Amino acid sequence: MKAGGRSPAREGVSEVAANGAREGHAAAWGTTTVVGAAVPRVDGWERVTGTAVYPLDLQLPGMLYAAVLRCPHAHARVQRIDTSRAEGMPGVRAVLTGASPGADVPWFPQRGKGPLSKLFDPHCRYAGEEVAAVAATTVFQAREALAAIAVEYEVLPFVAEMEQALLPGAPSIHEGGNRQNETLRYQRGDVAKGFSEADAVVELSFQTACEIHTPMEVHGSVARWEGDTLTVWDTTQGVFAVRDALASALGLPLANVRVICPYMGGGFGSKLGLNKHTVIAALLARATARPVKLFLSREETFLCVGNRPPTRLTIKAGAKKDGTLVALEMKALGTGGAYPYLPTSGYLVADLYTCPNVAVEQDNVFINAGPGRPFRAPGYPPCSWALEQTIDALAEKLGMDPVELRLKNVPVVSQQRGGVPYTSTGLADCLRRGAEAFSWQAARGRARGKGHLRRGVGVAAGMWGYDGEPRATAFVSLFADGSAILNTGASDIGTGTKTVLAQVVAEELGIAPESVRIEHADTGTTQYAPASGGSQTVVANAPAVRAAAQEVRRELLEMAAAELGRPQTELRLAGGAVVTPEGTVHPFGSLKALVARQPLVGVGRRHPHPEGKAALPFVAQFAEVEVNTRTGEVRVLRMLGAQDSGRVMNQLTFENQVFGGIVMGVGFALTEARVVDRQTGTVVNANWHDYKIPTMKDCPPELTCLPVDPQDRECNTVGAKGLGEPATIPTAAAIANAVYHAVGIRVTTTPASPVQMAALLERHRQEG
Ligand code: MOS
Repeated sequence: MKAGGRSPAREGVSEVAANGAREGHAAAWGTTTVVGAAVPRVDGWERVTGTAVYPLDLQLPGMLYAAVLRCPHAHARVQRIDTSRAEGMPGVRAVLTGASPGADVPWFPQRGKGPLSKLFDPHCRYAGEEVAAVAATTVFQAREALAAIAVEYEVLPFVAEMEQALLPGAPSIHEGGNRQNETLRYQRGDVAKGFSEADAVVELSFQTACEIHTPMEVHGSVARWEGDTLTVWDTTQGVFAVRDALASALGLPLANVRVICPYMGGGFGSKLGLNKHTVIAALLARATARPVKLFLSREETFLCVGNRPPTRLTIKAGAKKDGTLVALEMKALGTGGAYPYLPTSGYLVADLYTCPNVAVEQDNVFINAGPGRPFRAPGYPPCSWALEQTIDALAEKLGMDPVELRLKNVPVVSQQRGGVPYTSTGLADCLRRGAEAFSWQAARGRARGKGHLRRGVGVAAGMWGYDGEPRATAFVSLFADGSAILNTGASDIGTGTKTVLAQVVAEELGIAPESVRIEHADTGTTQYAPASGGSQTVVANAPAVRAAAQEVRRELLEMAAAELGRPQTELRLAGGAVVTPEGTVHPFGSLKALVARQPLVGVGRRHPHPEGKAALPFVAQFAEVEVNTRTGEVRVLRMLGAQDSGRVMNQLTFENQVFGGIVMGVGFALTEARVVDRQTGTVVNANWHDYKIPTMKDCPPELTCLPVDPQDRECNTVGAKGLGEPATIPTAAAIANAVYHAVGIRVTTTPASPVQMAALLERHRQEG
């Protein structure tokens, strides 16, 4: 993939660093040298050479392998399990069912709510639920033994689609029926009045398909007991989150559970919390007094560790002649599969544009399908698919340029949060500068092509409304030779967290990022960090790391000032040395007090978010597509992501996130859909052959990342807002709008696959 326009270098910031300092807070950075640079991954070498030990690579002496027997039926009740034959199979060391000692574990699909299931629930609510597990000497023996477990099921009628869930006589998936909750409502102003004042109103209905995370690294755990202390190497985005839930599931003190994830190979939200297989591995390890490795197969990752559930959305939008939005309404039907989950978010409808009258209504039901789970910007891409196409249709009805219509309604405060101002709002710049860099006007005016290949361009805007929990602690230790250790509980989920945090230490201490060794993501030895999710990893951890490094810096400067007989304010740190205004260089190792005292240790904590402000990222993306009207194929020719995520911490990792988000959005728009067989209620494309994630050939050949850095000195002490999720929010809608521009067809259902497009094009021809 050609990195079309590389991100332009960040413009220097000349304002005084003290700007934005709050009590007890460090001053925000002004200009930085190491932070913002295109520093390659500090762990790139071990990742590409294969020497990095991921949990799947771990080999422990005497380790056993485990596998899980899963319910093949969409809805069933386990009547009887006979494990006797499996227990006698070669290599089998333990067979686990809900009746095994300690295995009757309640399961909480929603944090803070009551148990709705069990580790091995006899009531199986989707095809893929855990029924039994085996530990054996080899993984083949374990899987072989699964086939020898005899299970009698009472097969129950099932609900395959959400429209059926509330029909009279529909089989109940939970006691109390299939309604997940009362209708959720958000309202401000009066939408009826708003629509009555509108000069143009459009209403469209949309569907989005269920998308599967299926990260390259499958999910799994290695569990080992030493006495009553449990160590788990887990493929997780958050070691502390897994530790807490695992300790609670097994009734262990927090101090006795150690969760480690040295490297992880993608999760996208599916590895945010505790999984059943982790508890199963721990129980099997206890039963066999051996370490146990339990990894899911690729197929299992499609069934039971989460998805972005399907949605049905209707959006109505009304505006004045000049484009002023006067009313927005969304009605959503969603499902979390067989367990509670909120698949759609009304946040975009409520907050992306200034609009006095807004109403959002969401109904969520249970169906017999795998559980929904956070998936890169949970709730947002489906909502964006609907909202941003509706805005596009509204622009057409008003005879306005879609960029102009959006610019007309850029918000100045967070309306959803009761009118609090933003620390920075780059949305207008994303739209304006993005349009310019994309040559929007020229592309919009260009002929759409003759013959069967039609071109079009589209735009969509977005924002991300989550700013999570900013708690985080970090330690920084500096040695006299200029090397340092950063100790942080943060997980690097592939985004480059370690690299960015090393840059933060390097920036403060005047050393190279390569000189920073990192201890991370280990609840036994590193400091608390929230799970890496919600685009909060840098936002939560970088300020804590910076505070720790600053503490070291302060102490170092004190020592240097005393030893060199110069005031601290005259000294700066660079190249692993203290430098005087005359340019005399005193390497850290020449400071006697430091050599005697090393390492200097700083402890840094994250301060709360600024009060009375919202610190959120914004985005606008532009797409150019070519539609083959004979085959229905849609090719994305180029895309540009104009991203306001605050400070660019690292040019390379910033681009990675934007390009990765766009590619994921291409999959949502064009190729990805879980297919459930209506006759059996089972997933029929639970593999990488039939479930289509975009390959290199589907990726836009020209991708441009355009950071729109609003120089936010208030959001936190590093100035960065979230990036990973906003980068994928508007992608699919921008593509759909480009398809409309190319061929005049509004694709309301994802994915816009050739199969769907061919049918739409045919109907268009007949109606045309
Ligand atoms: Mo994300 S879906 O919060 O990993």
